[in-house]
Amino acid sequence: MPIAVLASGHGSILEAILDDGIDVGVVVADRTCRALEIAQRASVSAALLERTDFGASFDRDAYTDQVVDTLAKHDTQLVAMAGFLTVLSKQILDAYPGRVLNTHPSLLPAFGGMYGPDVIEETLRTGVKVTGCTVHLVTEDLDAGPIVAQEPVPVLPQDDVTTLHERIKRVERVLYPKTIKELLG
Ligand code: GRF
Repeated sequence: MPIAVLASGHGSILEAILDDGIDVGVVVADRTCRALEIAQRASVSAALLERTDFGASFDRDAYTDQVVDTLAKHDTQLVAMAGFLTVLSKQILDAYPGRVLNTHPSLLPAFGGMYGPDVIEETLRTGVKVTGCTVHLVTEDLDAGPIVAQEPVPVLPQDDVTTLHERIKRVERVLYPKTIKELLG
């Protein structure tokens, strides 16, 4: 059975998952983004579920129900979040217990609970010399689920947000597909 990938941005992690030969049944995006183009190029079903269609105050439960319905239509066995910028409700964890994964651009629990670029900004601001990436199971506590895999990445003196994030993503593009494959068995 295929996996599903949830993305909001550039989609380079999605690209790495596809390049590794992992069977992706559907890509779900919460906004128009390059990840959708990557899916189309690879002839993978792509679903754009705009979060802005779910009201000014954002109906998270209704949105999550729609995501779960979409995943069910594609016989999803595992859900891999890859730069997905919407926090989903508990229904997704009930539908896929222990099978919702995320990759985060820091060594959790350091720099958890923040979105992508904010994580890197905060990493640079604090002056740590080593950061990295973490693959973890998604639970109701943001970025606090069981850690499945981690890898360190050095922070260099001349780094800015772009250079550091790209160095971390280079590692994520190897670690995430490898970890997904291990979990699929
Ligand atoms: C990755 O660093 C991921 O950990 C974070 O967002 C980034 C996604 O990169 N949550 P891309 O859109 O796949 O290039």
